[in-house]
Amino acid sequence: AQANIGVVGLAAMGASLSRNLARHGNTVAVYNRHYSRTETLIHDHGQEGQFVPAKTLQEFVASLTKPRTAIIMVKAGDPTDQMINDLADLMEPGDIIVDAGNAYFKDTIRREKAIRARGLHFVGCGVSGGEQGALLGPSMMPGGTDESWKTLGPILESIAAKVDGEPCVTHIGTDGAGHFVKMVHNGIEYSDMQVIAESYDLMRRGLGMEPEAIAQVFEEWNQGDLNSYLVQITAEVLHHTDAATGKPFIDIVTDQAGMKGTGTWTVQTALDLAVPVTGIGEAVFARGLSSSPELRSQAAQEGLKGPQPKAVMADLAADPEARKSFIEDIRQALYASKIVAYAQGFNEMQEGARVYGWKLDMGAIARIWRGGCIIRAKFLNRISDAYASGREPGSLLFDPFFKQAVEQAQDSWRRVVARATQAGIPIPVFASSLSYYDGLRSDRLPAALIQGQRDLFGAHTYGRVDQPGVFHTLWAEDKSEIKQD
Ligand code: 6PG
Repeated sequence: AQANIGVVGLAAMGASLSRNLARHGNTVAVYNRHYSRTETLIHDHGQEGQFVPAKTLQEFVASLTKPRTAIIMVKAGDPTDQMINDLADLMEPGDIIVDAGNAYFKDTIRREKAIRARGLHFVGCGVSGGEQGALLGPSMMPGGTDESWKTLGPILESIAAKVDGEPCVTHIGTDGAGHFVKMVHNGIEYSDMQVIAESYDLMRRGLGMEPEAIAQVFEEWNQGDLNSYLVQITAEVLHHTDAATGKPFIDIVTDQAGMKGTGTWTVQTALDLAVPVTGIGEAVFARGLSSSPELRSQAAQEGLKGPQPKAVMADLAADPEARKSFIEDIRQALYASKIVAYAQGFNEMQEGARVYGWKLDMGAIARIWRGGCIIRAKFLNRISDAYASGREPGSLLFDPFFKQAVEQAQDSWRRVVARATQAGIPIPVFASSLSYYDGLRSDRLPAALIQGQRDLFGAHTYGRVDQPGVFHTLWAEDKSEIKQD
């Protein structure tokens, strides 16, 4: 036994993770179902550090020092379950199995329980940053026991992205906590990507700007409050020209967004927890609508009528000053909607922690998202400040910094929602985030009417504003009110 860590599954993510581990002084046992992948890794990158290639899983397990620690990076679902079982059969009590794929947190809870019963540790670990992140420094969200963190922590810290010298990894909590937090990360990622896409659409279809000019706007935005990886890569995508046609790359890509399910899980879970994550929900649904080609082509045939965006926004396109100021409005709308997405995502984590019995440190989560992950952004510093030293505002929108930021942005935000709606440009996340903000700050909501309707058709009862108790009106009789015990 000579390797202090092992990686099972050497596709893009697993191979990058193994190389990152080896480059940071770990001796890495590597195993892949087809040995050719292992050979390729050793052939191409063997000189980057210490690898122990294994032809069989038995060999792989035998090459690990105790407590044996193996990271699984195979396809989510059945292949993961299969590999966990195969490893557990070969391992001994005290050994640690880490699932670093995008697993559904309830699967992780189930697997952790089953593996714990066999005396082993199971850690569901969220890993963000794609292939590059896995190689150069990801952000990692491990769950599992405190004991497993003692062995695993220093190894993960050695390969994580660093911000201000701090590694972007922390022990999130027990059993499925790590995958739960990674799931919410992805939900926020969906929302973030959608508001960027809505901003692009307004500039392209509304203001009639070319991709190159829009790329420059995103580059400029990346210098300020919106500084983030996603804004940066947006500029990169928009700058890119398709080699085959010479057209902007953005114009040759089919407009049907894919998704592997993590955004959907975020929303399903939020529905179960009754936490409104409206921005994330709309972002998932926007991908769904984009990926309904039959419905969309039928809509085109049916000729569903609406305004011509460019015609409605002609005044803005014609006047450079007006155009500039509308672009600034879009920037503010993007910023405010992004704050709402984080506020909602953090609320989901707060409620998840309560229901599943985890102690989630929101400040620490914001800190490990500052680097390495897909949603890394300058403003996560502010979020970590908002949750500093256990302070937990009911909503991020109540934190003085974000409260003021949204106050300042809201005139712009409202103009963008109004103009886009008049022009017929869909802005599901801009609009729903603004409605969420307005709903939250309304001292009286029309939910009162809904309570009246419910009581009328189903005797569902209601409360009164002027006294405690549960009431029902005899709607079909003399409309007198009865107080229930
Ligand atoms: C990350 C990403 C990564 C992956 C997701 C999203 O944090 O590194 O979120 O996990 O890109 O699978 O993919 P979809 O857009 O296909 O859901």
